[in-house]
Amino acid sequence: MQVVRTIRDYRAARAELAGPVGLFPTLGGVHDGHLALVDRARSECASVVGWLFLNPTQFGPNEDLDRYPHDEAFDLAQLEAHGVDLLLMPSQEEIYPAGFDTLVHVGGVTGRLEGERRPGHFDGVTTIVLKLLNIMQPDRAYFGEKDAQQLRVVRQLVRDLNLPMEIVACRTVRDPDGLALSSRNAYLSDEERADALALSRGLRLVEAAFASGERDADRLRALVRGEMEAAPLVRVDYVSLSDDETLEELSGAIEPPALLSLAAHVGQTHLIDNVTLGHRE
Ligand code: PAJ
Repeated sequence: MQVVRTIRDYRAARAELAGPVGLFPTLGGVHDGHLALVDRARSECASVVGWLFLNPTQFGPNEDLDRYPHDEAFDLAQLEAHGVDLLLMPSQEEIYPAGFDTLVHVGGVTGRLEGERRPGHFDGVTTIVLKLLNIMQPDRAYFGEKDAQQLRVVRQLVRDLNLPMEIVACRTVRDPDGLALSSRNAYLSDEERADALALSRGLRLVEAAFASGERDADRLRALVRGEMEAAPLVRVDYVSLSDDETLEELSGAIEPPALLSLAAHVGQTHLIDNVTLGHRE
């Protein structure tokens, strides 16, 4: 794996790579969810490039930027073992030089859920994602369904701005007990982690109810909320059952596919998870 730290060095190395080129981006704190993106890219592309940059502009003032997990040696070893060819780890100055003054804003779909509760978060995401797609020049970019809203926002960005690459969605990777992998899981104490299982348990309850024919939006949301509220260390931020594409909240009898997504604080840790009910076209 070749590791470069400047855009100039990246471009020189990128020019030598065989296509198609697959990209995975991360903030760091590499785990098996990230590595699943790498593995998928590896199996579908001639070359795999990685972007590792802790982007400060997508964190709110009271969020966890300062304590976000980072262990460069560990991350590099994992990415190398999974066959990444070229990794760009740019500095803050390289990405946000003095005088940087552009913000990319995607409408509609950013106004709900995480966007509603984390003002400015998606502007930070879309600005860095447009920058990284421009810099990295992949043929395909791999994103996780774990961040369901981010995935939809990125798709909208790519569609609206005619970016010449394909966005590939990868399934959420979970621990055997159901907890969706997240860099933030590292913050959880043993007690918090035990209670955090209520999130994925709630989603499984909803999947089972949906499979047995339940279609009422309020009853489906209530199932998840009930499971989460029974865990003392979990504070529910939202439970949403929405249109799979627009993320508009649904009421009455739902028409699949629909997205059940949730966010909670477990202690101080912000966790999100989701499941799609019914098949996409
Ligand atoms: P980060 O949180 O590091 O996630 C990088 C990618 O890994 C995202 O596409 C995310 O959806 C995916 N991912 C995380 N956990 C996953 C899991 N358990 N299963 C499958 N995929 C998972 O998302 C970001 O970074 C940033 O916003 C970024 C796109 C890099 C822009 O800064």
